Amino acid sequence: MNTKYVLVTGGAGYIGSHMTLALLDAGAKPIVVDNLSTGIRSAVPPSVPFFHGNCGDEALLDDIMKNYDVNAIVHFAANIIVADSSVDPLGYYRNNTGNARALIDAAVRHRIPHFIFSSSAAVYGEPNTAIISEDHPTNPINPYGRSKLMVEWILADVAKAYPINYAALRYFNVAGADPIGRTGQSSVKATHLIKIAVQAALRKRPGMDIFGDDYPTSDGTCVRDYVHVGDLVQAHLAALAYLRREKENLICNVGYANGFSVQEVIEVVKNVSGVDFEVRVQNRRAGDPSRLVASNRRATEMLRWSPRYDDLKTIVRHALAWEQRLLVDQL
Ligand SMILES: NC(=O)c1ccc[n+]([C@@H]2O[C@H](COP(=O)([O-])OP(=O)(O)OC[C@H]3O[C@@H](n4cnc5c(N)ncnc54)[C@H](O)[C@@H]3O)[C@@H](O)[C@H]2O)c1
Repeated sequence: MNTKYVLVTGGAGYIGSHMTLALLDAGAKPIVVDNLSTGIRSAVPPSVPFFHGNCGDEALLDDIMKNYDVNAIVHFAANIIVADSSVDPLGYYRNNTGNARALIDAAVRHRIPHFIFSSSAAVYGEPNTAIISEDHPTNPINPYGRSKLMVEWILADVAKAYPINYAALRYFNVAGADPIGRTGQSSVKATHLIKIAVQAALRKRPGMDIFGDDYPTSDGTCVRDYVHVGDLVQAHLAALAYLRREKENLICNVGYANGFSVQEVIEVVKNVSGVDFEVRVQNRRAGDPSRLVASNRRATEMLRWSPRYDDLKTIVRHALAWEQRLLVDQL
């Protein structure tokens, strides 16, 4: 592992905090920039240099890069709630696209050779195949997806013009928590299905809603590809090694090529927790594709990614353990 620094934006958030730990575990040296809009300071170990600020703040970035020999940026910082992006598109374009542009600009100014970007399955929109490969057309159907796709375009143009290479990792549904309980999904506003279902199992909320049970799927509820956050961050380490080794760019899905319906996920949560809870069927939400399942051939072949937690029960067990821990911390 290269001993120069890796700048992690959004490192106090759900995925970023797992990445920070994975870098430390791998013997690398992370630095975190986070504005703590949804992140939590205590999610970043005290040994890691932490800058409370905006990842698009030119002066802050210049300062960091003058003081630390940064070799790569892993950019997680963003607003992530799809429904909110339709209510506040300008806010999403400012934070997700505008700040990413400023960060990429700083990377170029300071000759940082590698950049990894948190993209999303949302760039595909409503897919026209059961399994989505990276060659599937991109046609995002909400401002969140468009805010991410624009950053992919910026990176593609920048990598042609300057000495920098990049990986855009298109995550499917990220879930679970650190297997040894060091971090997890702590954000109060989180809308992730597994988080909400384990909260219902722990009686932190009075049951839960399913949005639509008339989709063209086996039980009528939406199908998604749930990827364990521990495997996801390993894909980032593999992408970093790829960028350093190959000098090429990479656009790559991260998912298990395995879909579960909302109903199936809820059943697994009830089984694993041993708790029954109320589930109410509501109308469909606008902009929810019926099925999003990744092809992961590129990740397994080009990144040599070999997931360890490709098992829905394991994902739910880890999410539940983290949620129980949050409950204890609140006491
Ligand atoms: N969670 C998923 O299922 C999923 C799926 C696809 C893509 N993603 C992407 O992964 C990334 C991380 O998502 P997450 O689930 O960890 O969300 P999160 O909200 O837990 O983490 C985002 C972090 O970025 C910080 N942040 C936001 N704007 C900032 C700014 N301008 N400057 C500095 N810090 C800022 C927040 O405080 C937070 O710590 C996001 O880019 C998201 O779009 C997530």
